[in-house]
Amino acid sequence: MINTRGRSDRAKIAYYEDPSPGTGALAPRAAFRSDARTLSLNGDWRFRLFPTVAHAEAAEAGQGEEDGWEKLPVPSHWALHGHGAPQYTNIRYPFPVDPPHLPTENPTGDHRLVFDLPADWPEPGDGRTLLRFDGVESCYRVRLNGRELGTAKGSRLPHEFDAGPQLRRHGNVLSVRVHQWSSGSYVEDQDMWWLAGIFRAVTLLHRPEAAVEDVFVHAGYDHRTGHGTLRVDASVDAVPAGGRVTVPELGLTLATGETATVPGVQPWSAEAPRLYEATLTTGGERVPLRLGFRTVAVEDGVITVNGRPLLLRGVNRHEFHPDHGRAVPHATMREDVLLMKRHNINAVRTSHYPPDPAFLDLCDEFGLWVIDEADLETHGFIYGDWRGNPADDPDWEEALIDRAARMVERDKNHPSVIMWSLGNESGTGRNLAAMSRWIRDRDPSRLIHYEGDWSCEHTDVYSRMYASHEEVEAIGRRAEKPLDDPRLDARRRALPFIQCEYAHAMGNGPGGLTEYQRLFETYERLQGGFVWEWIDHGLRARDAAGRPYFAYGGDFGEPLHDGNFCADGLLFPDRTPSPGLLEYKKVVEPVGICVDAAARTVRVTNKYDVIDLTGLAFCWSREVEGRREAEGALDVPPLAPGESAEVALPEAFAAESEGEEWWTVRAVLAADTAWAPAGHEVAWGQARARGPAVTRTPGARIAPVSAPRAGDLLTLGPATFDPLDGSLRTLHGLHIAVPPRLNVWRATTDNDRGPDEARSLAALWRRHALDRMRHRCDGVAVEGESLVVTARVAPPGGFFGLLVSYRWTSERTSEGTGERPGERPGDGTRLDLAVDIAPDGEWPCPLPRLGLAMGVRAPLDWIEWYGGGPGESYPDTRRAARTGRWATTVEEFQTPYVFPQENGSRGDVRWAELRGPDGGGLRIEGRPAFALTARRWTTEQLEAARHPYDLTPGEVLHLDLDAAQHGIGTASCGPGVLAPYELRATERTRFGVGFTLPR
Ligand code: GAL
Repeated sequence: MINTRGRSDRAKIAYYEDPSPGTGALAPRAAFRSDARTLSLNGDWRFRLFPTVAHAEAAEAGQGEEDGWEKLPVPSHWALHGHGAPQYTNIRYPFPVDPPHLPTENPTGDHRLVFDLPADWPEPGDGRTLLRFDGVESCYRVRLNGRELGTAKGSRLPHEFDAGPQLRRHGNVLSVRVHQWSSGSYVEDQDMWWLAGIFRAVTLLHRPEAAVEDVFVHAGYDHRTGHGTLRVDASVDAVPAGGRVTVPELGLTLATGETATVPGVQPWSAEAPRLYEATLTTGGERVPLRLGFRTVAVEDGVITVNGRPLLLRGVNRHEFHPDHGRAVPHATMREDVLLMKRHNINAVRTSHYPPDPAFLDLCDEFGLWVIDEADLETHGFIYGDWRGNPADDPDWEEALIDRAARMVERDKNHPSVIMWSLGNESGTGRNLAAMSRWIRDRDPSRLIHYEGDWSCEHTDVYSRMYASHEEVEAIGRRAEKPLDDPRLDARRRALPFIQCEYAHAMGNGPGGLTEYQRLFETYERLQGGFVWEWIDHGLRARDAAGRPYFAYGGDFGEPLHDGNFCADGLLFPDRTPSPGLLEYKKVVEPVGICVDAAARTVRVTNKYDVIDLTGLAFCWSREVEGRREAEGALDVPPLAPGESAEVALPEAFAAESEGEEWWTVRAVLAADTAWAPAGHEVAWGQARARGPAVTRTPGARIAPVSAPRAGDLLTLGPATFDPLDGSLRTLHGLHIAVPPRLNVWRATTDNDRGPDEARSLAALWRRHALDRMRHRCDGVAVEGESLVVTARVAPPGGFFGLLVSYRWTSERTSEGTGERPGERPGDGTRLDLAVDIAPDGEWPCPLPRLGLAMGVRAPLDWIEWYGGGPGESYPDTRRAARTGRWATTVEEFQTPYVFPQENGSRGDVRWAELRGPDGGGLRIEGRPAFALTARRWTTEQLEAARHPYDLTPGEVLHLDLDAAQHGIGTASCGPGVLAPYELRATERTRFGVGFTLPR
């Protein structure tokens, strides 16, 4: 026991250090609205911040009582309003670990509001008035008109206090003292910004005589009979008779506590979130209820709802807003839900605490499966081998049970909640077991989840985070490594499995989603997972020059922080979807569309769990070289979940075309839904039907012209070269600032850097000096009509490298002769480069990339291309890229990761045209295709940048024309790049590009 001091001093311990949940708060109960009066106390309060508790107490006791008050909005976090600063840590506590004690420096914010009751507020003596706080971090003491109502901990949990006889009609003084650090901080070590304050709503609630104290809706569904069952338990203040429940749509009236069988109800599911409006009426108030009939179970080792197995396509959602932190506005919660629905996400884990209650209302309404997680994490104890872990110390039992109870009581009436989670990363221990027992006893209708105890002794699902594909597959086959205890092993082996966190969406990535999804869709036991995480926690800030950016750990001068590890979401901080979200949408699409060009058919599979395909319309299109030639509607039968059908594509597909031809079939919403308009794309499939076309008709070869004088440039068609090292100098009149040459380096990604130095691929690359490759020119020769440059490209100190030959040729093109008016010399010519790369020696590691890097000094700012798009793609993140013709600016070609890194590569580019404002430019054709990045800074500058503002556009447009890239993986937390996507220097690589003027 490390905490003898704390124990013996218990009598004297301050309330904010005492592990107990607090004093004075009323018993937890369901969140509900009613026709009883409420008064929102949100708005501008007065506020002053003290560096320690003692300072706050002294100011209160002394002369300074009226000094130093400023205005602060409630709800908010004071650090986001100029008082103190936010701090980001992942695991390590930002204070010495000596539970339950805290540092003396404990920022303490006094909040004060003076308010009147509205004129029509009921008279004193008519019922009671409660004061509710929906969320205060991390501990607070409430006083009303000088009398203490109580103290509380449990930041993301509601507390209600009886306002009592102190409440006056006018001039009420509400004083709330909030401490940043408390015993609660030891159990709230979630990976996020430490942000204290009253960050959720504060409300005054009138409770009339005979009001509803609590209500618990039990609405089940029997899929065998199609009948619902309904029982509404309610405790009613001072009225033993209880209340009555009416459900007009079902013609139902029943007493509280009475069970009714309801034939023919439509069940609730995330896919068809059918809610029935009901009213609970007591002598004192009317409480509207929304009923969702559904039954959650584990049947034959599989999670089912209403008898149907689920496949969770989930995300972990922290509450986050770039300006408001965890004080998320309601409109933003709604935006989150709409974004999830529109990206085929069907489940949310409320990592790692219960969300604002309004978020769960939206999940009920729009349809999302929810794992509601208790406000508990003690991860930092891992650095002391879990000694003193509150999850196992009897001193903390009351606090932990209180956390479970406040969550369950508040959220128990939400049909969207199908699992209760005991918390996150809190090791193992008796208090977790006690929480599980408490929850099971109170609400046996939902499953219990906790990832941190792999024995699963107290849970109903086997849950893991970041398990590799290989391990997940073994679990899918119920062939995982056994537990030591045979009883527990047998029990766990029979449980369903989810990955409560996987695919760490930090920076560029995550890779490997497709392979996980394939496993989830193959093995019945694997019921999907939750990508880590929904949104980057980047706080909006400005640099010294006033340019906006998103701040991460360290940007506020914090001595201890975890850098950009908080920027690991599928959304950028401003909620712009990242390429990772678009990839996830494609990977988890609920309709499989597999176009078979040879058979002129499409196989459509319904991958929903519950609904058929009647809500979708299907359309086909035929594109030649990215231009739509024909399109139409496609009749697809209303397949039931799991069914598939082969549908013939129309005659139009038989037409002959010139050029590369692709067929696309899309599934879109047939009508407006609550979450997206008709026409919103849900799923798509594409196949190449013809081509690729020969993009060039061979023209007459042009021979190189050697310079008459030594030192002069050599000319080949539209280009000039340095005869000494064979480097390209000008091309179609453009100044080539960086001549094309072999490049293997990329600005490393978060995933390349891995979780630490030891597991960092980027570090391995640097140890082998791949960021400093040397180019030795072995020869420049004119061979007939070719200019051939040979070189060896190798790292300093390395015994391995690449042997390269660059063969340059030029032809007259069919597009022009170069002699038309207005044409410049060389306009009707093309320059071709064939690159032949052979590994030399044993390569000890994969390559970051393999291709040509070059730079053009010209104001080219517009890119049009035919190939993969519209967004970036890498070998293992390319499902969302479709073949087409795309165009955008160079600026928009970049993906603005919060922490700059390799980004923006477009794959399978057949050709790209770069243009400037004057119309001039360059066309690059692939032989057969290349991956393209284009930016106004170098790879070195990109790598050195810490924020986007470090990157200033220069005069040179830097291009990477890649034959290949190493995959992305998800090694920042989880497995690295899977074998098929590794780029190894084992074989010869040949590829080429051609340069002409834009067409
Ligand atoms: C998990 C943890 C999350 C987050 C993630 C990495 O271990 O549960 O809270 O830290 O790793 O971003």
